[in-house]
Amino acid sequence: MKIMAANANLPLARAVAQYLELPLVDAAVRRFADEEIFVEIHENVRGQDMFVIQSTSYPANDNLMELLICIDALRRASAKRITAVVPYMGYARQDRKPGPRTPISAKLVANLITEAGADRVLAVDLHAGQIQGFFDIPTDNLYAAPVMAADIQSRYSGKALMVVSPDVGGVVRARALAKRLDNAPLAIVDKRRDRPGESEVMNIIGDVKGRHCILIDDIIDSGGTLCNAAQALLDEGAESVVAYITHGVLSGGAVARVDSSALKELVITDSIRPTEAALDSKRIRILTIAPLIGEAMRRIADESSVSSLFD
Ligand code: R5P
Repeated sequence: MKIMAANANLPLARAVAQYLELPLVDAAVRRFADEEIFVEIHENVRGQDMFVIQSTSYPANDNLMELLICIDALRRASAKRITAVVPYMGYARQDRKPGPRTPISAKLVANLITEAGADRVLAVDLHAGQIQGFFDIPTDNLYAAPVMAADIQSRYSGKALMVVSPDVGGVVRARALAKRLDNAPLAIVDKRRDRPGESEVMNIIGDVKGRHCILIDDIIDSGGTLCNAAQALLDEGAESVVAYITHGVLSGGAVARVDSSALKELVITDSIRPTEAALDSKRIRILTIAPLIGEAMRRIADESSVSSLFD
């Protein structure tokens, strides 16, 4: 196997390569003067089992294009098999038509990756599991939950925990984490806007009084969902609220919003390269998923079970 990295998250790619005790393929992914992307692979990859690591995070379109062009370069260089390792898949939230005459952009992105020449995809906490079906090639969806559960056990063991989903859509993910935390109880934040124009009401399903709440979600973007949920939990008598989120998109003023929120701590993974603001924040901590991704890649290369990573 050989590993190639595009530019979106080089620290993660290097950490994965280090886990696998392999060098990154000698390649250049650079821009022409007019910002067109150019990829040049400086070593032979003919007949190799190739893994190209690229999160299609901000700037999503540039990073997606880099991924597509890397795959094209590998295909034309006669790689035997190409796995697109996409720790964070941009556009994944556009997985259905929210209204008439709107696109399903997640499906379009899946088509583009496949059409460029990928033979497999390795992703982490896809926004919805069904997105695996958007690809007509084998797609492994890894879960950050075991990494999060280990961190939670080491910090909060013996405390009265409550796993909380910040919306109804995240219940399956929250339940899976709760199971890993010795079947911790589960609560759900139910957001309702009874009439258009009226402000949103947060109802908490479950008794969170005196509990140390662990909010879990796949993405923190503006931070609105999470910060509002944290406040609602404290208002209902929660003892403390921390959040574990796989993908720290953290756009706009999200870091400042988190810093001034009711959240005691926000824990994200390095699926997206953290910004300076996120690294500087005293409220944000980053867990690495490099060993998880590296181990899954090793198992794909060895043709051994990936799912048993989560047993
Ligand atoms: C939505 O379905 C996702 O799971 C996240 O809850 C959402 O993307 C978070 O966005 P924001 O941080 O902007 O509220």
